[in-house]
Amino acid sequence: MSAPLKLSARAEGLQPSLTLAIAAQAKQLRQAGRDICSLSAGEPDFDTPAFIRQAAAAALEAGHTRYGPVAGEPALREAIAAKLTLENGVPTTTDQVLVTNGGKQALYNLFQVLLGPGDEVLLPSPFWLSYPEMVRLAGAEPRLLVTEAARGFRFTPDELEAQIRPSTRLLVLNSPSNPTGMVLDRQDLEAIAAVLRRHPQVAVVCDEIYEFLLAPGHCHHSLAAVAPDLAERLFIVNGFAKGWAMTGWRVGWLAGPRPVIAAAAALQSQSTSNVCSFAQMGALAAITANRDCVHAMADRFSARRQHLSEGLGRIPGVVLIPPEGAFYAFPDVSAWGLDSMTLCRRLLEEVGLAVVPGLAFGDDRCIRLSCAAAEATLDDGLDRLARFQDRL
Ligand SMILES: Cc1ncc(COP(=O)(O)O)c(C=O)c1O
Repeated sequence: MSAPLKLSARAEGLQPSLTLAIAAQAKQLRQAGRDICSLSAGEPDFDTPAFIRQAAAAALEAGHTRYGPVAGEPALREAIAAKLTLENGVPTTTDQVLVTNGGKQALYNLFQVLLGPGDEVLLPSPFWLSYPEMVRLAGAEPRLLVTEAARGFRFTPDELEAQIRPSTRLLVLNSPSNPTGMVLDRQDLEAIAAVLRRHPQVAVVCDEIYEFLLAPGHCHHSLAAVAPDLAERLFIVNGFAKGWAMTGWRVGWLAGPRPVIAAAAALQSQSTSNVCSFAQMGALAAITANRDCVHAMADRFSARRQHLSEGLGRIPGVVLIPPEGAFYAFPDVSAWGLDSMTLCRRLLEEVGLAVVPGLAFGDDRCIRLSCAAAEATLDDGLDRLARFQDRL
């Protein structure tokens, strides 16, 4: 008899993604015949626009099927550099861009090449749930910069400064934010830059994956455009998943200082190699086209965000800071007297509603609902939530 296989310490400590697990559980229950309404998804419910699909299909047919350059198709890297330069005001050259398997791999690679034991990473909380796990996978430790709903989930410059220590290597900024929908405005970014100038050991990664998904009246700004003097320690993560409805394609990018991009490319060369060759050709068609399809989808999300926010506002005990971007609402439902895991389990069991517990994002008072669903589905979800509240 052989001894049971022992997992590495790295694997033993790892939490699988709760959002993916809940979405999968909801799907499974539905397949088993249960009447389930899922507002747990973190992906657009729209199809990828036809011209993008056609470009990928044409590339596939044309035999674009072999290994490609590890760091990405040169034309795509160039187009991403041009986008950053012209659309975001961040002067970028092709060799400062790495094409990755979604925004996730961009973050993973960056953390792997920048961080190690003894390093700390500042995470504004609530946070996207993969950040802490990826930080730990790199041997570093997350340090939370706790923000409150009552202050729009913003931190002050003093609060940021108070958390910076000699071991702080990286600050993660996610705007528009998953899960809170908070959007950092120019003033917020200027204040953050002023603090960073006093702490040269701290690099910053801006996760801009929800760049295009903004409520009316809000604008996306890149820290790298607001504080170009910090360019030597600023990184941008972005991708095609949310803005172009291309979650399954797995194309994203990391942009930043050349030596780090080269190190991340070397890591990629020894792990996953190039991103799917023909998917990159679809992404090239997407990024070089005008943004009509992106804005059309963003408008639909804005209408739904509003619809969901208004509906939540009518349910007793729900306190919502209206989201300024992305496609989530993150209300505080602590008045109902249940922790978020219990609440979400009961919502699924008792009224067939799948939403994500706030605990996964660092705030046990809240739940995350996605508005990446048709209006009728949002109404159904709101009805179920109201019914549950009624019974409490
Ligand atoms: C804040 C944030 N960053 C990054 C990602 C990763 O996106 P991708 O699908 O491009 O890996 C997500 C996906 O949910 C996200 O919410």
